[in-house]
Amino acid sequence: MKSGLNMGLLRWLAIAATASTALALTPEGLISAPRRAEAIPNPSGDVAVFSQSQYSFETHETTSKWNLLDLKSGDIKLLTNDSDVSEIVWLGSDNSTVLYVNGTNADIPGGVELWVSDISDFANGYKAASLPASFSGFKVATIDSGDVRYVAYAQSYANGTAYNEQLAAKPLSSARIYDSIYVRHWDSYLTTRFNAVFSGTLKKTESNGKATYKAEGGLKNLVSPVKNAESPYPPDSSSSDYNISPDGKWVAFKSKAHDLPRANYTTSYIFLVPHDGSKTAVPINGPDSAGTPKGIKGDAGSPAFSPDSKKIAYWQMEEESYEADRRTVYVYTLGSTETIPSLAKGWDRSPDTVKWADEDNLIIGVEDSGRSRLFSLPADASDNYKPKNFTDGGVVSSFYQLPDSTYLVTSTAIWTSWNVYIASPEKGVIKTLGTANEIDPELKGLGPHILDEFHFEGNWTDIHAFVIYPENFDKSKSYPLVYYIHGGPQNSWLDSWSTRWNPKVFADQGYVVVSPNPTGSSGYGEELQDAIQNNWGGLPYEDLVKGWEYVNENFDYIDAENGVAAGASYGGFMINWIQGSDLGRKFKALVSHDGTFVADAKVSTDELWFMQHDFNGTFWGNRDNYRRWDPSAPERILKFSTPQLIVHSDLDYRLPVAEGLSLFNILQERGVPSRFLNFPDENHWVLNKENSLVWHQQVLGWLNKYSGVGKSNKNAVSLEDTVVPVVDYNP
Ligand SMILES: *[C@@H]1O[C@H](CO)[C@@H](O)[C@H](O)[C@H]1NC(C)=O
Ligand SMILES: *[C@@H]1O[C@H](CO)[C@@H](O)[C@H](O)[C@H]1NC(C)=O
Ligand SMILES: *[C@@H]1O[C@H](CO)[C@@H](O)[C@H](O)[C@H]1NC(C)=O
Ligand SMILES: *[C@@H]1O[C@H](CO)[C@@H](O)[C@H](O)[C@H]1NC(C)=O
Ligand SMILES: *[C@@H]1O[C@H](CO)[C@@H](O)[C@H](O)[C@H]1NC(C)=O
Ligand SMILES: *[C@@H]1O[C@H](CO)[C@@H](O)[C@H](O)[C@H]1NC(C)=O
Ligand SMILES: *[C@@H]1O[C@H](CO)[C@@H](O)[C@H](O)[C@H]1NC(C)=O
Ligand SMILES: *[C@@H]1O[C@H](CO)[C@@H](O)[C@H](O)[C@H]1NC(C)=O
Repeated sequence: MKSGLNMGLLRWLAIAATASTALALTPEGLISAPRRAEAIPNPSGDVAVFSQSQYSFETHETTSKWNLLDLKSGDIKLLTNDSDVSEIVWLGSDNSTVLYVNGTNADIPGGVELWVSDISDFANGYKAASLPASFSGFKVATIDSGDVRYVAYAQSYANGTAYNEQLAAKPLSSARIYDSIYVRHWDSYLTTRFNAVFSGTLKKTESNGKATYKAEGGLKNLVSPVKNAESPYPPDSSSSDYNISPDGKWVAFKSKAHDLPRANYTTSYIFLVPHDGSKTAVPINGPDSAGTPKGIKGDAGSPAFSPDSKKIAYWQMEEESYEADRRTVYVYTLGSTETIPSLAKGWDRSPDTVKWADEDNLIIGVEDSGRSRLFSLPADASDNYKPKNFTDGGVVSSFYQLPDSTYLVTSTAIWTSWNVYIASPEKGVIKTLGTANEIDPELKGLGPHILDEFHFEGNWTDIHAFVIYPENFDKSKSYPLVYYIHGGPQNSWLDSWSTRWNPKVFADQGYVVVSPNPTGSSGYGEELQDAIQNNWGGLPYEDLVKGWEYVNENFDYIDAENGVAAGASYGGFMINWIQGSDLGRKFKALVSHDGTFVADAKVSTDELWFMQHDFNGTFWGNRDNYRRWDPSAPERILKFSTPQLIVHSDLDYRLPVAEGLSLFNILQERGVPSRFLNFPDENHWVLNKENSLVWHQQVLGWLNKYSGVGKSNKNAVSLEDTVVPVVDYNP
């Protein structure tokens, strides 16, 4: 197997060296290009740190490092290549001291250490704290004395002790016993352990003008005193679920409702707790909280303290079982018993990130027409206020305020994996500091020119679609269509970079990719999104038919008749639905990744609120809603005839692997060319780099085989590139 992989690599290297029409973005290039994280500026806004990791198909290992970005010149230099440094946080106000997480712990196996260093002398840090478990997500506040108060999270036992995997006793039996839902979520079975936010303090002492920080006191679990609370919430487990106030006195965290079953409600509360844990955390928007807005029972998140530590801004949805309901920003005043006011409630957009600009204004990150943009929002905005955006293209992944009230923004786009720029609400984008397509050889040739967009009349309303061109695109030629169908379904194709389903990798095989955002898509207002409820195979399917017809009639350079279609999750369901529909006959090949097939099997999923919302009722009370859009209905099966690759992995607890197996069984029995690709160690997403390579070879190879691209483009990926043996007992 090992030598086989090396052969695959050699083949790729040979192609890269000799091809006249080299592919710009290959699967190997996509997977092994550097992956950079958010740029985090120091208080004076002179420099920013960011981490970078990179996988090598030669060593089969990932290396990681931290860099320093000069915010004046854009110059980047190496800070450290010690892969044990997993997080860096600026400390104090001298603009050069950092706190960092050292992934090893000399005294406690499975624990981590906090180290402090001067950024200009990074190799000479010192240990400030030894922590007993694998803590991450550090956030700090420097208080008047100069001491540093921090929060971070780890797994917790019910008794509040942090869980250390390496030191935990191994159980004798592997049995699991459940008296409540969930049993499993995303890719893990629930256990009695849960995520919890802990607080701690570093004491500052000064001698000869030099400051030193040392841990003072132990860690305090702020979550475990509330039975059934959990923060940050898995599977995302993001540190945006909690925050520490700038004065270091308070911590706010989001938890799923501790008083409701987890699997069939989305309800969440924002809890407030003193940093020292001297009182038990209380929800500010729970059923018994004085200020809870009437009728607001949905998911909540992104708590952010105002600069004076007196207010908390956060978002919340209205409905208790609709995970993609519109988010509205609320601002709670600490100590107030008044109803928590909402901001711009009449605005038909759904903010997902909330930060304060100053005492009176917020900056929010919001999905908007295929982008994720920054908008400014006054902290007292009325219901009919319409926020204005100051970033345009791409998808913002993080933003930090600089001393001159501009913002350091990290973003991605379809044409770059990392784009760092400075922007302000007054001036928009001011200056680009660095973009990956100009740095990374793997991304060479990428730029805004690879992307276009169009609108078409769908079944009942205007639909937006992106177009991604192949390398050396020539308008006078014709390229087979890849029709790209997104998951969610309340989600969108965005102008963003992805290492899974990157449309440019598909395009560079020799296709034009069209990515429509049909009924159900997010970022275009509630009406378009909500219309998919109880309508999975209805309006979205009709929109996709209209989109295909529009492409076929309007673009001479797209060969829709020899096109292919692919999708994952809801997009996988839609591919399975298309296989049994007229639209299925328009495609030469289909790929469905983790799609549902048997309507009655949907109840085996993890998040029951999702099914109960999307099919508008319970499995027993409204079964017809579930069966209405059943890709496995006998009359649909009789139509199956387009070659289909099915990808389904064992750790997908959202849509269990039985769905993919059921479909494969039927396609094989019906004599439809089909292949089943399975990863025993992947969840809803294929993340392992070597698995990702095989995924790309099989998905692209399947499409290329049937579309004809495999014949016309000698550089195209082929099914035979994969060295894993194919199990085939066909007589
Ligand atoms: C660090 O930067 C901040 C913001 O520009 C400034 O107020 C402060 O004086 C600087 N500290 C030092 C020690 O230079
Ligand atoms: C880290 O950098 C040093 C010098 O800067 C170099 O000698 C060493 O090989 C690097 N280590 C890794 C793992 O890249
Ligand atoms: C991390 O901690 C170990 C001891 O646990 C130490 O040897 C090493 O130098 C530290 N690394 C950094 C980057 O500080
Ligand atoms: C908490 O529970 C765990 C698991 O049972 C145990 O190992 C640990 O010692 C307990 N901690 C305390 C403080 O009792
Ligand atoms: C959720 O499940 C619980 C039992 O775990 C049940 O009592 C409750 O009615 C269900 N609620 C919804 C909205 O399905
Ligand atoms: C965001 O900004 C761009 C460029 O200025 C503009 O085209 C777009 O309409 C704006 N979007 C909103 C919702 O204001
Ligand atoms: C819209 O879709 C519905 C089915 O969901 C269909 O009956 C109707 O004819 C379609 N209308 C148009 C204009 O395509
Ligand atoms: C959902 O069910 C309710 C109650 O039966 C009904 O009023 C509503 O119209 C349904 N919504 C959809 C989208 O089918």
